[in-house]
Formats: sequence, structure tokens, C-alpha cells
Amino acid sequence: MSGIKIRGTGRCVPQHVVTNDDIAKIVETNDEWITTRTGIRRRHHCADGENHISLCTQAAQSALEKAGIRPEEIGVCIVATLTPDELVPAAACTLQQKLGLPEDTLCFDLNAACSGFLFGLHTMECLLAASPRKFGLVLGAEVLSRILNWEDRGTCILFGDGAGAAVVEWRAEWPSISAVVGTRGDNNLLRVAGVETGERSYIQMDGTKVFKFAVETVPRCMDQVLTKAGITAEDVDLFVFHQANARIIDLAVHKYHIPPEKYYKNIAKYGNTSAASIPLVLSELQDLGKIHSGSRVLAVGFGGGLTWGGALIEFA
Ligand code: UT7
Repeated sequence: MSGIKIRGTGRCVPQHVVTNDDIAKIVETNDEWITTRTGIRRRHHCADGENHISLCTQAAQSALEKAGIRPEEIGVCIVATLTPDELVPAAACTLQQKLGLPEDTLCFDLNAACSGFLFGLHTMECLLAASPRKFGLVLGAEVLSRILNWEDRGTCILFGDGAGAAVVEWRAEWPSISAVVGTRGDNNLLRVAGVETGERSYIQMDGTKVFKFAVETVPRCMDQVLTKAGITAEDVDLFVFHQANARIIDLAVHKYHIPPEKYYKNIAKYGNTSAASIPLVLSELQDLGKIHSGSRVLAVGFGGGLTWGGALIEFA
């Protein structure tokens, strides 16, 4: 025993909406192709006055409010991201100052691409066990619009900006989230170049191979979480999938015979928001009243690294 539960969630997406028709004015594509191949209809991109830290701050404030937790009660703050405004200071450090978290709060960024929020929850569960304060803040936040290659129609249609946050609490008598995380170092399938090569930083992806990796990884990861937690898929109240492609979600839903009321897709509105995708879903589900105290949510994600992760998340 000993584990975390979510006390409250929050989210923030930029004001500016980019539709499929808007993108069709830039690259050779169309609404019909994007909708049928991905499930995406629009996405939000940051405009003037918005950036990574403004999204993080609003999402975190809203999560703290929902949880009824004061900033001074937070012992650990993790921001999962691959697109912070600055490499130094870390987004979590700037957020510490914006929120007024205590100076001895352990604040750091974590890059596991689209699996980042689940890596963050797993790390948080381990760290809060040793923290003098038992509340933590985990965010997934991205401004992917900054790293889009507007000459590559295979990737620029997919990604959006946003931030999701969760306030969690650790207690010795609570069960663990039964997290499963994995990494397979590979810079061929999905990559954002950095300083070493001097290339412009934008997302480069072999979509077909990543699709195949996802379709294999999602059920494997789900099975591992269920086994670790000692439950079956029928015991799960809600399934939350990384929103990368509606077809990947549909395949998992079909394989596990998940009824429509037990899963949720918001990819049509936001596109793929990488680390933000799972907490955006959690936050929407909480606001829709679909998540209650005691709800058990199986979340699963995958992405660049390659990385994958799953967890059985309970709500306090
Ligand atoms: O979160 C990180 C993880 N990322 C993912 O999970 C992404 C996984 N991959 C995917 O979601 C899909 O592979 C994509 C949506 C990226 C691509 O879908 P696809 O069904 O694999 O298409 P494709 O790349 O095999 O391309 C099929 C055709 C090609 O034309 P030809 O060669 O058949 O004539 C492409 O040139 O569709 C063409 N195409 C497009 N057409 C219109 C590719 N992109 C577009 C586009 N609009 N945007």
C-alpha cells in the first residue's frame, strides 16, 4: 500500500482556433482527409500574449482551486513538456514563482514526450512518499505550434497547444497507481532536432511506423497495468487514451469491448497535444461530472523516445 489519488484537475487552451480548412490554405490537404484519418477537426494555437507558462499557470491555479489546496501545501511540482518557453529556468521553476509555491518545493521539468504526464504521476508517487508535504502538482503542457513544419502535411495537421494539471495527494493507506512505464531509445521514428545538429527544431515523424508502434503498445500497456493492479477491464470506470489519432483509440476500444460511456475522445477539438493530452481529458471528464470520488481511471499513453506509460488513477 501507499499511493496517490487525484484531488482536482484544471486545464487551459489558447484562444486561437485553427480549423482543418485554415490548414488547407497552407498545405495541400483537406478537412475530409484530416477528419477521416485522424479524427481531428480543429486545434488551438497560442497567439500574442499566450505562451507555455501562461497556459501552465491557469491550468495549475484551476486545479488547486478544484482540489481546495493552497500553494504552500505543495511538496513537489513536475511539468511534463517538450516545448517549454525556456530551457533554463525550467517551466516548473517559473511556475513555482507564479503560483507562490514554497522554496523547498521540489520543482522540475520532465520530457517523456506524449507519455510525460504518466511518467510525471509515477515519479510523483515515488517522490511524495519522501516529501514532508503530501500534496503534489503534475502538469502536462505543450506549445507544439512552435515546432511545426508547415511544409510537411503529414505532421503539421496533427498538433495543438494546451495544458492540463492535476493536484494529487499521497497517503500510506492508499493503493499505488500501478504505473507501467517503458522506453525504447529510437530517434528515427519521432524526433525534434536540437542544438547538436544545428537543424531547425520541428517535429519529424514516420507516422505509419509510429501508428504501428502505438497499436501494439496500447493494449500491451493496458494489460500490464490491469495485471499489476490485480483487476480486469470490467472493474475500470473510465478509460483515458492519449489523443494522437482517433483510429488508434477506436482499435483499443474495439479490442477491449469498451462501451461508449466508459471512454472519451476530445481529439476533434484539440488535436494531439502531447503531454497535455491525458490531463486535458481528465479535466474535461471531471467538469462533465463523469469522474467522482472513488472513480478508477485507466490511462495509457505513448510517444517520442520512444516512450509509453499506463496507470490506474483513482480520484479522492
Ligand atoms: O503522439 C505522438 C504519436 N504520434 C502518432 O501517434 C501518430 C501516428 N500516426 C498517424 O496518426 C498516421 O500515420 C498519420 C495521421 C500521421 C498519417 O495517416 P496514414 O493513414 O498513416 O497516412 P499515410 O502517411 O500512409 O499517407 C497516406 C496518403 C499518402 O498519399 P499516397 O502516397 O497514398 O498517394 C500521403 O501522401 O495520404 C497522403 N497524405 C495526405 N493527404 C492529404 C499524408 N498527409 C496528408 C494530408 N492531407 N495531411
